[in-house]
Amino acid sequence: MSKWPLDQYDVNGFAVIEDFLTEEEANELHEAGLELCKNAPENDRAVFNTENKSSHLKDKYFLNSANKIHYFYENGALDDQGNLLVNKSVSLNKVGHALHALNPTFKKYTFDERVKNIAKQLGFKKPTIPQSMFIYKNPKIGGEVKPHQDATYLHTEPISITGFWIPTEDATLENGCLWFIKGSHKHGLDNRLIRNPVRNSDEFLVYDKPSPAYSQDLFVAAPVKKGSLVVIHGLVVHQSELNRSEKSRFAYTFHVMETDNVKYSPENWLQLPKGEHFPELY
Ligand code: FE2
Repeated sequence: MSKWPLDQYDVNGFAVIEDFLTEEEANELHEAGLELCKNAPENDRAVFNTENKSSHLKDKYFLNSANKIHYFYENGALDDQGNLLVNKSVSLNKVGHALHALNPTFKKYTFDERVKNIAKQLGFKKPTIPQSMFIYKNPKIGGEVKPHQDATYLHTEPISITGFWIPTEDATLENGCLWFIKGSHKHGLDNRLIRNPVRNSDEFLVYDKPSPAYSQDLFVAAPVKKGSLVVIHGLVVHQSELNRSEKSRFAYTFHVMETDNVKYSPENWLQLPKGEHFPELY
């Protein structure tokens, strides 16, 4: 493997390692994503939409997904009853959040020696994998992901959440590659999404502060080839645009988190049932 570009990571808050997976390996991950879509259960059609406050069921389906494989649909893919309004093959936004624990293919690549090597070079001592997702970003319907820091959603003290993002197709300007504000991981955490301390509220999750309006002029695009690894600092501001192209932009992503002298917030949305633990990377 090529030399790890630690300098780039420290300066920019993200790093790209090309050819992290071979073409065959990227294809295997891609096929596993297609397989999930093909086998998506009809009774699991919950629209993934954290803005939508109308359905407690949807919120619970999301909140209970830490140790399951749950299916989240694009806005506009389902009607109010959960019937498909588009072709099933382009209906999913993502599947998560325990693919790394429950699906053999995603498990194999998450716990791969190459992943462990990167985590060691980043200084992780006792890392765990709190979540994983397969993201579809299908042509025309694949929605934008607004500017955010991952630590807003997965908070630890001190900050340690680190994203591993592997596209299984070339991620381009047209199909919704990642965009970053270089160096923004140095300005601290802007806000947090927490479980609502107000009981009996309609909102299960609330932001402790409004999200800042980041200037679009600050973002730089990071188009990458399929099978690349993008390592994403928990504090770097990033986003992706909606997919305006005719091509999909599938990606497998998971997070690595330190547990040695690090506290995972009980206010985070992602919680395992009592007695269960996030799997150790090594
Ligand atoms: Fe993110």
